[in-house]
Amino acid sequence: MCGIIGGIGNNIFDDIKQGLYRLEYRGYDSVGISYIFDNKIVVKKRSGNVDDFFNHYSQNVNCNLIIGHTRWATTGIANDINAHPHLSFNSFFSIVHNGIIENYKEIKNELINKGYAFKSDTDSEVIVNLIEKYYLDGNKDVLDCLKKVSSRLIGNFSIALIDLNEPNRLYFYKRKSPLLVGVGKNKNYLASDIYAISTFCEKFIDISDDDYGFITSNEVFIYDGNGLKKIKYCKQNFEYVNNDLCGYKHYMLKEIEEIPNVIQTNIDEYTKENNRYYPHDLLNKINEFDCVIFIGCGSSYNAGKILSRLTDCLNKSSFVFVASEWSNYPKIYGKNPVFVILSQSGETMDDIKCIDILNKKRYPTILLTNNEYSTLAKKSTYVLPIFSKNEVAVASTKTYVAMITVYLLFIFAITKDKTILSNLRSAIEAINDIISRKNEIRNIANKIKDLQSVIFLGRCYDYDICLEASLKLKETAYINSQAIPSGELKHGPIAFVDDSVAIFTFFSDINTFLATLNNVEEVKIRGGNIYNITNKSLKTPNDSFACMDTDLRVCALVKSVFAFYLAYYTAEYKKLPIDKPRNLAKSVTVD
Ligand code: G6P
Repeated sequence: MCGIIGGIGNNIFDDIKQGLYRLEYRGYDSVGISYIFDNKIVVKKRSGNVDDFFNHYSQNVNCNLIIGHTRWATTGIANDINAHPHLSFNSFFSIVHNGIIENYKEIKNELINKGYAFKSDTDSEVIVNLIEKYYLDGNKDVLDCLKKVSSRLIGNFSIALIDLNEPNRLYFYKRKSPLLVGVGKNKNYLASDIYAISTFCEKFIDISDDDYGFITSNEVFIYDGNGLKKIKYCKQNFEYVNNDLCGYKHYMLKEIEEIPNVIQTNIDEYTKENNRYYPHDLLNKINEFDCVIFIGCGSSYNAGKILSRLTDCLNKSSFVFVASEWSNYPKIYGKNPVFVILSQSGETMDDIKCIDILNKKRYPTILLTNNEYSTLAKKSTYVLPIFSKNEVAVASTKTYVAMITVYLLFIFAITKDKTILSNLRSAIEAINDIISRKNEIRNIANKIKDLQSVIFLGRCYDYDICLEASLKLKETAYINSQAIPSGELKHGPIAFVDDSVAIFTFFSDINTFLATLNNVEEVKIRGGNIYNITNKSLKTPNDSFACMDTDLRVCALVKSVFAFYLAYYTAEYKKLPIDKPRNLAKSVTVD
């Protein structure tokens, strides 16, 4: 899975270089480009991120046809050889690919038996060699080859393809993995997302599944099973936000400290008279839905846990599912359910699989996303943007908070309960208080940075916060951590508590305060290192950090900020690549 980009037109190199940086959220373990020079296809590729690549290949390339790729390894480890683009055996074609070919081994063996040799372990190299094989065996029509190849391949794939014999064309095929065409001034582009090419293009063209074709510098040809298609342009009001570090050392730190602003922006946007985000029928219909089912992955799933609890006030039942579980074992509850999909990127393949199932069964979907132009946005019935501006750090912070904020504002639109707005304002105040005391959290991080194991304890909302706190610590600081409902501790996990373990306990609810305090005592007498994260009015004998008091419904907004700083500073002490942790991608675009 990966980000793919291609362009054709004069001086195209700089645009593709910028686009590769913007596609890094889809993977950053290796990078490559390919272009035609001196009647030969040139491929430059290496493991490492986009910065590493352009530091190594620092010279600009003079070409008017180029493809590029950022990779998150799926088939074949992350190394120079498995990096894309891949050149065909006889060097007539080069390809960049996003997706997974399920039957590549069988095809690879067939090609090997016919004399083809492979350099990489990837499924992608199989595609380019199969195209070349059909090309050399047939009438040398690349469009024909693309059609034939697509009927042999099983899986998801979008590709951009250079043909040495046609330097004025850039070919493509799209199945399931995203791909769109961008139209510029005497330059045309292909990319996995609008964000990569938004600043160079005036209009965009959506490519449907199993469409294929080619672009030239000023024309676009798209084919489907019935032949040449009429081009439908869509103008997007996509606003590219130039997002630099503004003096911060890392994007994660900058994005944590943008959280008060993100909450305020969402309050402003969603309480505007006649805001466009709630189509009339959605607010009218919401009363008809008897069940809300939340689906997401990673931090978005964790946000879903909170949203599900918040749904209680709407007197509807609610359920939360990890997307990859739901798509494999779809569960429908209620007579008239609505599905809420949570995805900051809008590109996560596990979610896309769910929405495809839901669309087939005609269930209504509401998407909470930071990308209104994403694949999921196109497939959803309703889209609620989470107004967080671009989030660069792989570990989500402000978008997690924004999802909870937007759902609270959605509940406000339904119930007109004004305490929601005052609660959100108090949350902003409490978060600003945490930001002003971040050094206290840095000191705590210093104490846990060398530990092998951390446990987060809490009940109800506090348990949901633990899930996110634990994920963040794993993602950024590589510390093995677990989130455990406090009451469960004694049913097993307490066995591994000793003085090498740190236990963070979140206290936000007066009703369970004493019960949770007992659990902490159980840990304390077994030698665990105790850190209690409380509210000012909920004092414990071992308070490590007391947040300003807020309503339970917004406690996750506040205490997650503590957790984000803890993960950030622990990773900083360990000198880890905070914004781009190993093995991860901001959005996982394969299932
Ligand atoms: C990846 C990221 C996680 C993220 C998850 C969901 O696994 O590494 O940090 O939470 O995807 O991403 P989404 O864009 O769907 O919210």
